[in-house]
Amino acid sequence: MSESTTIRWEQDESGVVTLVLDDPNQSANTMNAAFRTSIAAIADRAEAEKDAIRGIIFTSAKKTFFAGGDLKDMIKVGPEDAQRVFDTGTAIKASLRRIETLGKPVVAAINGAALGGGYEIALACHHRVALDAPGSRIGLPEVTLGLLPAGGGVTRTVRLMGIADALLKVLLQGTQYSPQRALENGLVHELAATPDEMLAKARAFIDANPESQQPWDVKGYKIPGGTPSHPRFAADLPAFPAGLKKQTAGAPCPAPRNILAAAVEGSQVDFETALTIEARYFTELVTGQIAKNMIQAFFFDLQAVNSGANRPRGIEPRPVRKVAVLGAGMMGAGIAYSCAKAGIEVVLKDVTPEAAAKGKAYSEKLLAKALSRGRTTGAKRDALLALITPTADPADLAGCDAVIEAVFEDTSLKHKVFQEIQGIVEPDALLCSNTSTLPITGLAEGVSRPADFIGLHFFSPVDKMPLVEIIKGERTGDEVLARAFDLVRRIKKTPIVVNDSRGFFTSRVIGQFINEGVAMVGEGIEPASVEQAAAQAGYPAKVLSLMDELTLTLPRKIRNEAKRAVEEAGFTWPEHPSDAVIDRMVDEFGRTGRSGGAGFYEYGEDGKRTRLWPGLREHFTKPGVEIPFTDMKERMLFSEALDTVRCFEEGVLTSVADANIGSIMGIGFPAWTGGAIQYINGYEGGLPGFVARARELAATYGERFTPPALLVEKAERGERFSDA
Ligand code: NAI
Repeated sequence: MSESTTIRWEQDESGVVTLVLDDPNQSANTMNAAFRTSIAAIADRAEAEKDAIRGIIFTSAKKTFFAGGDLKDMIKVGPEDAQRVFDTGTAIKASLRRIETLGKPVVAAINGAALGGGYEIALACHHRVALDAPGSRIGLPEVTLGLLPAGGGVTRTVRLMGIADALLKVLLQGTQYSPQRALENGLVHELAATPDEMLAKARAFIDANPESQQPWDVKGYKIPGGTPSHPRFAADLPAFPAGLKKQTAGAPCPAPRNILAAAVEGSQVDFETALTIEARYFTELVTGQIAKNMIQAFFFDLQAVNSGANRPRGIEPRPVRKVAVLGAGMMGAGIAYSCAKAGIEVVLKDVTPEAAAKGKAYSEKLLAKALSRGRTTGAKRDALLALITPTADPADLAGCDAVIEAVFEDTSLKHKVFQEIQGIVEPDALLCSNTSTLPITGLAEGVSRPADFIGLHFFSPVDKMPLVEIIKGERTGDEVLARAFDLVRRIKKTPIVVNDSRGFFTSRVIGQFINEGVAMVGEGIEPASVEQAAAQAGYPAKVLSLMDELTLTLPRKIRNEAKRAVEEAGFTWPEHPSDAVIDRMVDEFGRTGRSGGAGFYEYGEDGKRTRLWPGLREHFTKPGVEIPFTDMKERMLFSEALDTVRCFEEGVLTSVADANIGSIMGIGFPAWTGGAIQYINGYEGGLPGFVARARELAATYGERFTPPALLVEKAERGERFSDA
C-alpha cells in the first residue's frame, strides 16, 4: 500500500476538507515515516487548492484519534541519530505549521484518545472538539516516558494557556485527562456526545469563523500571564522549583528540567525559534539512556504485564460476581472499595459489626472527598456504597465466588477464618490471601482446597497503589491463576505474577534497600546523608523513614523466622550488617518505628515525623567516616537489582517485564531506571559493566554484592537480561 495513504482527503461540495487519519498498516496512527510523507503531501495540496477550501477538519478512522510518536523507533535512537531525529521532527512540524497558517479555519474532531503527538496535532488546530467517549484520554504524557512533547506541544501549550498553567497542568505531570476534565482545564474547546455531533460542531466552527487564526498568529499577541520578565510569572516562579523538586527528588530525571527550560526559553522568542528550542531539548532526551529506560518500563513492559503475557493461555474468563473480604482493617477496607468501584458486589466481614462498618466508612470518606472535588456524582457514590455490605455474620457470605482475606498477619488466624467460611461461600470460590510475607504454599495447607488458593498481595493505600502481586503456591492451579489475574485487571490494577517464596518478590527485595540504608548508619555514616542518598538515587521514600513506617520489629521477626528455617535446613544464616543496628535500636533504645512513636525519627503527638533522632549521631555516627556519594546510591540500587536477579535464579520471578513493573510500582525502585532489570541492562557498559561494578562493591562493602552466576553467565555471553 502506498505510504501517502495514511491521511485521507475527503472534500465536500461546500469546500470543507476532512483529513481522516487512517494508517492502513497499523491499528493506531503514529508519527512514523509514512505519516511524515503524508502530512507533507497534504500541506502541499492544501496550499495548491487553497481557493477551493473553506476549512479543514482533522479526525481519525481509528478507535483512537492519534497515538503519538513511534516508540518502537524512539527506543532505538542513539546519540549518533541526533541530527536525523531533529530533522524528522522539524519536517512534521513544518507541515502542520503550513496547514495551521493557511488562512482557513482548522478544527480537530478528537474522536478518541489524543495523547502526546495526537494532542499536538490537535493543538495545531484552531479549535478542538472532543467526543466524550468513556475511557478516552487527552494530554501530553511525554514526561512520564522521560521525554518532552516536541511536536509543538511545549510551544503551543505555553502560548495557549500561559507558562504556569502549561507547565503545571499539562507538561510537568503528564496528566491524561478525560474529555470532561480536558474541557475544564482548557485543553479542548467543546465536547460532543456522538461522532455526528462532533463533526457538526467542527463544521459549525468553520461556518462561524471563516477567517480563523491561532491566537499566537494574531498581531499583537502576548503569552497569557506574561513571560518570565513579567511580574505575575515572577510571583509564580518559586512554585516551579518546589514542584520540580518533588517530582524528581534530585534524581537524574532530565525530562522535567528540559521541559521547564524549553517552556521558559521558548516564551522569550518567536514561534518558529521556540519550536527549534523545543526540538533541541527533545533530541537531548530521546538520544539518552533514561528515556529508553522509561519507555521500556512504562510503555512496553506495562503493556506486556497488563495484556496478560503471564496469564495462562486458553482459559475462558469466568468473571467474579461477589467478593467476600475478610478483615475490614486498613487493607480490607481499601480492597472492598477497589472492588466496588469496579462494580463488584462486596461483603466486608470483620469480628464485630462496628469494625465492619468502620471498614465501609473508609469508602464513604474517599467518596466524600471525590464528590467535593467534582470527581464523582451523588448517584455514583450511592451506587458504589450500595455494593458494600458490612457484616460480622459468616452466613452473609453465601453466594460469594471469591474470597480475599486481609486479617492480621498470623498463620493460624488466617487458617481459622478460611475454615469458618468454607461451606458458606460457593463450593469453587477463588480463595485469596493478602498476606505480605507468609508463604502461600504453607497457608494453603490450612484450607480444604489448596489448588484454589492463591496470594493477592495489594499495596497500601490500596485505592492509590496500582500494583497487585499475584503469588502462585506450589499447588495453585492454572485456572485459579487466570481467574485471579482477571479479577485484578477488572479492578483496574496491574498484576505481576510470581512464584511462592518468603517475602515473594516485592517484600523481599525492598528489604535489601532498607537493610543497606540501615547498614550505612551502622558503619558510622551521617544518617542525614543516608536519607539524602536515597532521595538522590530517585527513591520516592527515604530509607530510614521507610524503615520507621514498616516498624523495626517486623524485619526482626521475619529475619528470625527465616534464620530458623535456614538453620534447620542445615545452612549457615548470612548475617547482614543492618541486623545489629536494628537490634540496638529496639533492645537498647526502645525505638520501634512510627507506630511506637519513636524510631530513626522523632514524632510529634500528631504522629508526624519531626526530625532524625539526634541519638543516632551520638550512638552510631563516627566523625570522619565518609564514603563516596555514588557508592551510597549504588549500594541501594545494586542491593535491590542483585536480589531481583536472585529471584530469577530461584524461580520466584519468570518475567523481566514483571520485575521492572513490580519494582517501580510496588516498592519504589526509581522510575528513571526503568525498573530493577532495566537498570542492569541500561547500566553503563551493559551487563559486563554492571558485573564489574558489583564486584567492586563486593570487594569494598561485602559479599552480598557478589553478582549471581546467572548474571555473570549472561554478561560473558554478551547478552542482555531477558526472559529467554
Ligand atoms: P489491620 O490490623 O488494619 O486489619 C486487620 C483486620 O482484621 C482488623 O480489622 C481485625 O478486626 C480483622 N480481623 C481479625 N480477626 C478477624 C476474623 N476472625 N474475622 C474477620 N476479621 C478479623 O491490618 P492490615 O494492615 O489491613 O493488614 C491485613 C493483612 O494485609 C495482613 O496479612 C498484612 O500483612 C497484609 N498487608 C498489609 C499491608 C500494609 O501495608 N498494612 C500491605 C500488604 C499486605
